[in-house]
Amino acid sequence: MIKSAFSFIFLIIYNVAFGSDTLIPIITAQNALILRIDQKKNLSTIYYGKKLANATEYVLIPQAYRQSIDYSEVANAAYTTSGSQNLLEPAITVTHADGNNSLNLRYVNHEQKKLENGATLLTILLKDPVYNFYVTLCYKSYFAQDVIEQWAIIKHTEKSNVLLQKFASANLHIKAKSFWLTQYHGDWAKEMQSETSKLTHGIKTLDSKLGTRANLFQPSVFMVSLERPATEDEGTVLYGSLEYSGNFKTDFELDNQNNLRIVSGINNYASTYTLKPDEEFTTPAFLHTLSTKGKGAASRNLQEWARNYKILNGNENRLTLLNNWEATYFDFNESKLKELIRDTRKLGVDLFLLDDGWFANKYPRNGDVAGLGDWAPNQKKLPNGIGTLVKEATDNKVKFGIWIEPEMVNPKSELYEQHPDWVVKQPNRPEHYFRNQLVLDLCNPQVQDFVFNTVHNLFINNGDIAYIKWDCNSVIYNAHSSYISNQSHFYIEYMKGLYKVLKRIREKHPKVPMMLCSGGGGRVDYGALQYFTEFWPSDNTDPLERIFMQWEYSYFYPAIATANHVTDWGKQPIKFKTDVAMMGKLGFDIVVKDLSKSDLLYCQSAIRHYNKFKDIVWFGTQYRLSNPTEADVASMAYINNTKTKGVIFNYLVNNRYGAGSIYPIRLKGLDRQKKYKITEICLYPETRSAIDEEKVYTGDFLMNIGFNPMINAQRSSVILSIEQI
Ligand code: DGJ
Repeated sequence: MIKSAFSFIFLIIYNVAFGSDTLIPIITAQNALILRIDQKKNLSTIYYGKKLANATEYVLIPQAYRQSIDYSEVANAAYTTSGSQNLLEPAITVTHADGNNSLNLRYVNHEQKKLENGATLLTILLKDPVYNFYVTLCYKSYFAQDVIEQWAIIKHTEKSNVLLQKFASANLHIKAKSFWLTQYHGDWAKEMQSETSKLTHGIKTLDSKLGTRANLFQPSVFMVSLERPATEDEGTVLYGSLEYSGNFKTDFELDNQNNLRIVSGINNYASTYTLKPDEEFTTPAFLHTLSTKGKGAASRNLQEWARNYKILNGNENRLTLLNNWEATYFDFNESKLKELIRDTRKLGVDLFLLDDGWFANKYPRNGDVAGLGDWAPNQKKLPNGIGTLVKEATDNKVKFGIWIEPEMVNPKSELYEQHPDWVVKQPNRPEHYFRNQLVLDLCNPQVQDFVFNTVHNLFINNGDIAYIKWDCNSVIYNAHSSYISNQSHFYIEYMKGLYKVLKRIREKHPKVPMMLCSGGGGRVDYGALQYFTEFWPSDNTDPLERIFMQWEYSYFYPAIATANHVTDWGKQPIKFKTDVAMMGKLGFDIVVKDLSKSDLLYCQSAIRHYNKFKDIVWFGTQYRLSNPTEADVASMAYINNTKTKGVIFNYLVNNRYGAGSIYPIRLKGLDRQKKYKITEICLYPETRSAIDEEKVYTGDFLMNIGFNPMINAQRSSVILSIEQI
């Protein structure tokens, strides 16, 4: 009785108040994110989902729900505060100049403008009614791709400093009957292991406190399916990720009303930030895209967005390469490298990439225990420096690239001896090493200069360096900078320093391709990828493992940015290895002279084929056809934008008796009316295709019935070319 009377009063207040509310819609091709300013000037989220045909009906959405009461009235706040009436996980927590811990944020004004690149930027200014404390919420929306980037700019004009205890980038509020989280975990050589579970009430947190190699155990990318786990082509699913390379934290709170609140930003762990009056604190962007047509559509949107707007030179050429890491490890000299450079040409790839081990003299880099930081060529291994290798490459009509790990130092190095104060370590505690190394203190502008010059000088001193592999093998232990006075700023200042250096490098060298590597995929995120052309997904290059890993990465990152190398990992034949690597940006890390005649012939012809179809893999549209976690066969297609050509990769992922493509695999992304022919390409020398290449199929047939690539134990990897006739 008491309850129903209460509900009744609530309803009246609700309806009256509703009449004078103002909505701020963020509309993309398929979706709508609707914000509401109520009479008290609270800004809340009332809807995030498929866009309605009639925009005037958004106001009707809240009344359609009869969930339990939101006692606080701010559970769906667009940016949840703390210390006042909020009862849930906040997006922001502050201690004001007078020591008070409360914050309320009320709407002041907003502005929406079209940016040059076609995106729309909405900024909403919020202010505390009591304190001179301001937050500007920023929403950058990309119409065609249904992608939204959200961040916050925090500022105050109080009498003295304010402490930011928490400072999230974004705070989403979503309604559904149930939510399913797909998250990723990993370690070295085990990146992107996925887990899906139903979210239960309370808070589930994905975070990192590792500092540099922040994704080692867990990246910030995730999916949340609504109502039921989304499949490739069905269901509603939200993809999210923080565009940040340091510590992150994303909380998924299923609240008392059964709504999902997602709060994501820089991890506030050990990072209370002291904000001076008038200083602006800008959070990194939280990126999200929502699909009501399953995971495939979400990933295609994200990949297109990444190529067009985020990854450096995302729509430009990439270089195939031969890397010497696994071919030589640290054991090489000039003549051995020159031989490998000649092999690069023989193989037919574009570039030779010299990996770790080329530098340091007092403490030569002959293993991973010494030399990091001393970036002069090792005179014993390379008496004529790097320039002679660049020349050898040029003479052989290939390009030259080089590995570097400029953020790091081995204690056994001249750099460490000369600048012990440049190193991240606690002054009064023993050092603790990750891969025998320590991290340089990028909070310090002198260190920033050193790192910048290390990279810049490679270009200045050695002629035409055409590629950089930027590694980062260590996490941060003993987080402490001898440069900054407030250690709570350490993790944030480190990242600011890193981005400053990368920005300076890009100002000087805007085009040179750079691979983002972190002992594998320990640092893959859209914060860093603005400065890099590609990333190294994992040191695990066993092709069977890579099928699964590349599959998972592909939900969030485009093929053009995914560097895949053929190596000695795995027992599969060279064709299988090469075919798997061709699903992204192809490279090799093998001893070419040790290949059998047929294996070499295969690699050479595969590279020629790759050069013909790589534009479709890099710039076309990707369709997942058969999921390796569900079937014996993994199948992935890339179709060009006019739907006239495509390439389909098929692999056996189960070695049990009789495993193979028993059923046809349905194609996607074709034109139903068009007629196509399918041919098998990249055949191993002296073998013939098992498929009938004379048949003509309509797109309709191929998408309804499918095509059988005839995968079995004898044909474990099949690449098909599909072309309109
Ligand atoms: C880790 C990287 O992931 C490898 O590819 C290689 O570059 C080594 N570092 C070199 O030390």
